[in-house]
Amino acid sequence: MTSQDTLSMPWWCGHGSASRRGPHLEEQMKRSTSLPPPGGKLAVLLPGMGAVASTFIAGVLLARRGLGLPVGSLTQMGGLRVGGERVRLSQYLPLARMDQLVFGGWDIFPENVHEAALHSKVLEPAQLEPIREELEAIRPMKGVFHPQYVKRLHGTHVKTGATKADLVEQVRQDIRAFLRDKDCTRAVAVWCGSTETYVAADQVHASRRAFEAGLLENAPSITNSQLYAWACIQEGVAFANGSPNLAVDFPAAAELARHHEVVLAGKDFKTGQTLMKTVIAPALKARMLGVRGWFSTNILGNRDGEVLDDPESFRSKEITKRGVLEEILQTGDHPELYGDLFHKVRIEYYPPRGDAKEGWDNIDLFGWLGYPMQMKIDFLCRDSILAAPIVLDLALLMDLAQRAGRIGTQDWLGFYFKSPMTDAGHSAEHDLFPQERRLKNTLRAMMGDEARGPSSTERDD
Ligand SMILES: NC(=O)c1ccc[n+]([C@@H]2O[C@H](COP(=O)([O-])OP(=O)(O)OC[C@H]3O[C@@H](n4cnc5c(N)ncnc54)[C@H](O)[C@@H]3O)[C@@H](O)[C@H]2O)c1
Repeated sequence: MTSQDTLSMPWWCGHGSASRRGPHLEEQMKRSTSLPPPGGKLAVLLPGMGAVASTFIAGVLLARRGLGLPVGSLTQMGGLRVGGERVRLSQYLPLARMDQLVFGGWDIFPENVHEAALHSKVLEPAQLEPIREELEAIRPMKGVFHPQYVKRLHGTHVKTGATKADLVEQVRQDIRAFLRDKDCTRAVAVWCGSTETYVAADQVHASRRAFEAGLLENAPSITNSQLYAWACIQEGVAFANGSPNLAVDFPAAAELARHHEVVLAGKDFKTGQTLMKTVIAPALKARMLGVRGWFSTNILGNRDGEVLDDPESFRSKEITKRGVLEEILQTGDHPELYGDLFHKVRIEYYPPRGDAKEGWDNIDLFGWLGYPMQMKIDFLCRDSILAAPIVLDLALLMDLAQRAGRIGTQDWLGFYFKSPMTDAGHSAEHDLFPQERRLKNTLRAMMGDEARGPSSTERDD
């Protein structure tokens, strides 16, 4: 790194003056001012090219042509305050531009992305016409698939190999070939594949060595998503997990990520019902209102809903959806308000609704002298429309973090997840607004600017 490199940085990288920077930020400053602007093409690799992935890709292609707005994406539409000025994240941060992204991935069905988009019925066919050729040209590579982890799907477009280690090797070769053939300088992966049956981490997941032995022995607790993740980390590809699968949330993956200096994030995109839960619950808690019961149910009819109709896959989702309230309400600290809380989460597969999910919440709360009240939330949302911008933000922010020299679990990206991954021993923050503050302060720190404290009264957008 020379002073010449620093001088050639885009104007926004030198935003903070030295006097405004706290001494504790010196370390990050050294890194951020040496962060080169992104050159070359960024491969965005998606294991699982169904509704979310196709909606994300189509949206980026449409936005590139000015045929749609990337609504819901912080990196494209959001901002923050730096030294009293409001700046757009896309101007402030040296992020990859949407026209530098190249899409690829894997699926267990051979449909190209245009066919996948038509199949998932999220976007109108007419809206896909201007980008039809580009979508048709994106064909999934053969998937890694052991059907016992996703019982409702019967994949036909799958790799074969004697051991799980062989399959990891094939995915590694796919990544190298993709980068070479598409002339990309680097890649990030965002898991958009199906939710797997619940499989707890065991001894195989405890260390890198144990996991590698497990790959050779076809250990049953190593699932499909873990094979992709292992291959990505070994190839230096940042990995974010949009599903509740373990994927990278176990000690061996953290160890491997440290070794290869790769960033990780997860898990399970925070889109509809949980997004609302992590806004409403902190409000009730802030006013010291009691909660006796919170019943959340959903109907959805897409392929994700079909997969979640299997009780073993639903179990994975239930765990990420249920963990939220206990942490936000600090149930243990307020037994008189939350000690009897009954929290139930259901997802019902209901084909007529397709991707247009409906999430209902009934909250039984109580106030002054214990008098009961009820709150009903009925969110008629669209699953993939809410998830697509998260995929974009994660791809760009993971790439930024990787280029900034960060390593391992990026808990500041917990803003995007139902069950935020943290380093061992750290508890997760679920409340949306502290999560947003943490995310923005981490970005400021990366750019060498001062953090904003919770006491600031100015809006930060
Ligand atoms: N849409 C949302 O709001 C939302 C929110 C949170 C989490 N998620 C999660 O995101 C994921 C994707 O959701 P979706 O609606 O796109 O589902 P989808 O069923 O439309 O797409 C998933 C794709 O993954 C493929 N797949 C399954 N196993 C695979 C494997 N081993 N290798 C490669 N491909 C594989 C399937 O064939 C399918 O095409 C799911 O795990 C879902 O639970 C979605």
